[in-house]
Amino acid sequence: MTTQERTFVMLKPGVLQRRIVGDVLSRFERKGLKIVALRILRMDKAMVEAHYAEHKGRDFYDKLVEYTLSGPVIAMVIEGEEAVGVTRRLAGPTDFHESQPGTIRGDFAARTRLNIVHASDSAASAAREIALFFKAEDMCEWEDNNAQWF
Ligand SMILES: Nc1ncnc2c1ncn2[C@@H]1O[C@H](COP(=O)(O)OP(=O)(O)OP(=O)(O)O)[C@@H](O)[C@H]1O
Ligand SMILES: [Mg+2]
Repeated sequence: MTTQERTFVMLKPGVLQRRIVGDVLSRFERKGLKIVALRILRMDKAMVEAHYAEHKGRDFYDKLVEYTLSGPVIAMVIEGEEAVGVTRRLAGPTDFHESQPGTIRGDFAARTRLNIVHASDSAASAAREIALFFKAEDMCEWEDNNAQWF
C-alpha cells in the first residue's frame, strides 16, 4: 500500500550561491514528486535553532547554525507517494563519503557540513518542519490533468 505524504525540503545556502537551484529542484521533479509550497528566505538565528533543535550540543552544531545563516535558503513542501522516504533517498546519506553518484549529495556535496539539502527524516519531523516555515494557506494543491505526457 502506498500513501500520499508531504515532506519538507530545504536547499541550504550553498545551493543559491553555487547557482544549482534548478539542478537540485529537477531531481524532485524527475521523480514525479509535486512541489506544493515554495519560498526563498533568510532564516534568523531563532528559526535555525528551532529547526535544528535536536542537534543542540553536538560538535557540529555551531558550524551547522553558522552555515544555515550564511545566506538565503529555499524551503519547500513536496508531496507524493512515500514522499518522506523517497526524498531522503534522492538526497542521499548525510556523510559525503557514503553518498553515491546519482543522489543530490553524491553529485553536489564534497563536505558533510555543506551537504546541500535538508530533507525531513520522518512524517512527524515533516509536520513539525512544515509548520515552522509555512502556513496552511501557503499550500497549493494541483492536479496532473494537463500533464498527459507524464
Ligand atoms: N559529522 C558531521 N560533521 C559535520 N556536519 C554534520 C555532521 N553530522 C551532521 N552534520 C550536519 O548537520 C546536518 C543535520 O544532521 P542530521 O544527522 O540530521 O543529518 P540529515 O538528516 O541527513 O541532514 P538534514 O537534517 O540536514 O536533512 C547534516 O545535514 C549536516 O549538514
Ligand atoms: Mg536530519
